[in-house]
Amino acid sequence: MKGENLELIKTKFLQEFEGAKTSKERRKICKKYLEDELSSVFASLKKLSGKEKAELGKEANNLKELFSSKMTMLKEIKKEKDEWIDVTLPGKKPALGSIHPLTRTQRRCAEILSHMGFVTVEGPELESEWYNFDALNVEQDHPAREMQDTLFIKQKNREKLSPRERLLMRTQTSAVQARYMEKNKPPLKIIVLERVFRNEATDSSHEINFYQLEGLMVEEKLSVANLQAVTKLFFHNFFGSDVDIRFRPSYFPFTEPSFEVDVSCTICKKRGCSACQRTGWLEIMGAGMVHPNVLESAGIDPSQFTGFAFGMGVDRLAMIKYEIDDIRLFYGSDLRFLNQF
Ligand code: DAH
Repeated sequence: MKGENLELIKTKFLQEFEGAKTSKERRKICKKYLEDELSSVFASLKKLSGKEKAELGKEANNLKELFSSKMTMLKEIKKEKDEWIDVTLPGKKPALGSIHPLTRTQRRCAEILSHMGFVTVEGPELESEWYNFDALNVEQDHPAREMQDTLFIKQKNREKLSPRERLLMRTQTSAVQARYMEKNKPPLKIIVLERVFRNEATDSSHEINFYQLEGLMVEEKLSVANLQAVTKLFFHNFFGSDVDIRFRPSYFPFTEPSFEVDVSCTICKKRGCSACQRTGWLEIMGAGMVHPNVLESAGIDPSQFTGFAFGMGVDRLAMIKYEIDDIRLFYGSDLRFLNQF
């Protein structure tokens, strides 16, 4: 091992380094010299001793310094390149969400009815049998309890509990009527826009949970004419002033008289199509004058006050309005469907 040898290695290195075309090649060269060449230099240094070892050792270290400084420089350049940001590139647009069709429908309903002076109130989804049935004049063995496919809550010694203690998932927002009337006295003008539950097999028009719009107005001297006026105004605003509305006699335990309300088919305009089963009409809402027993059990004097109530499915309103033929789409989280709104 001689000093000239080290000088030779240095020259060779610089030649190769300068001659390389890419920085990748340069890095390779640095690595080769740092690892292979230097390790054989240091290995042969071990065999020397005294002054010679010290002198050559110093030179070898200088060489090492040179190789690694070049390597560091290359790394710095690469890092700068990797971190470089092109500020002239157009920005990425974040995907905007849209409002769910049911929310949209709920908001529209609330908007129309609030213009008529109705105030939105809330009630619990986990409800007692009392408010869901008893306070609404639905007798113990009344088929309506079965008819609505109730999801009852398992409770210890359930049969010994009172109706106010027995729990279920409410089947109708009418339960909120009973709750509200117990605490608030007429004049009342409220709506409820909330979720209800039914123990049902699902298909294109049935879901185990869906949304209802419930309305209640209690005052002195209210009549069916007032119910009809509010109904007409609501549907004309919701579907457009060209829809016709008709009342058919019906039965609900909590109203007397009771009605089924239809709107003329918004798709075929009464000509008859599959959406209205060729009848020209769409069943849309249950309604009636609040039964005196319901007022009484909430502590309101039926000889002084009368009221009307109505209830309908928000999902059904949305299906008709947006021509959607399967209720399950609302709950499926399919973005191809949701992004259309
Ligand atoms: N609660 C009824 C149902 O779920 C709908 C209904 C009918 C509500 C008549 C009312 C009413 O307020 O007066 O089928």
